[in-house]
Amino acid sequence: MKHLSPSILASDMLNLGAEIKKIEASGAKYVHIDIMDGCFVPNISFGMPIISAVRSCTDLVLDVHAMIVEPQRYVDEFIKNGADILTFHIEAVTEESAKEAIDKIKSHGKKVGISIKPKTPASAVIPYIKDIDMVLVMTVEPGFGGQKFMGETMEKVSEIREYASKIDKELDIEVDGGINDQTIKIASDAGANIFVLGTAFFKSEKPVLADEILSKTN
Ligand code: DX5
Ligand code: ZN
Repeated sequence: MKHLSPSILASDMLNLGAEIKKIEASGAKYVHIDIMDGCFVPNISFGMPIISAVRSCTDLVLDVHAMIVEPQRYVDEFIKNGADILTFHIEAVTEESAKEAIDKIKSHGKKVGISIKPKTPASAVIPYIKDIDMVLVMTVEPGFGGQKFMGETMEKVSEIREYASKIDKELDIEVDGGINDQTIKIASDAGANIFVLGTAFFKSEKPVLADEILSKTN
């Protein structure tokens, strides 16, 4: 199943409630929430109060992307505040803390995602695929919205999709960064099925409709 996951990083924070309603009106079912700690990435975004504010005003699937060091320390808090899918970075964990994070997320009955940065090979996430729900392949260097899609990351999307099919695993593959009505087709052809849209959703002149943009992938 293909989904759009509009990223509130590009939204008007002063009117967050109205921005969430815009996502609902688009027909998208997910909302992407980028958590940045100023350490794992060179930027600070927002944290628990925003997750909980979004949770209080919508039933959309909260797709939380944690760009933070030691993510295992915050799993319970993310989920308490409303995350439905919690994605952490493989570059931010050891084998041991990755296992701890996965087990904790699962113990709450929530979905687990693992993300890889553009320079991290697919092989870093392959051993975890059998145990998780989603792989998030970053299509820009994490930290900022509005960057240019890196086409060279598509090889990894295909490699991960092929591996998942080989082991007969129903895996979501999310792409994040520079996705718009052109690049969405490239990512979908490579095997991605969840598409994060920040700038292309919130800074678009005319309202984005999920079905319309997803139809570009056919
Ligand atoms: C970047 C974030 C993205 C960002 C995408 O680190 O993970 O989710 O909001 O923004 P656009 O779509 O503008 O590239
Ligand atoms: Zn993100």
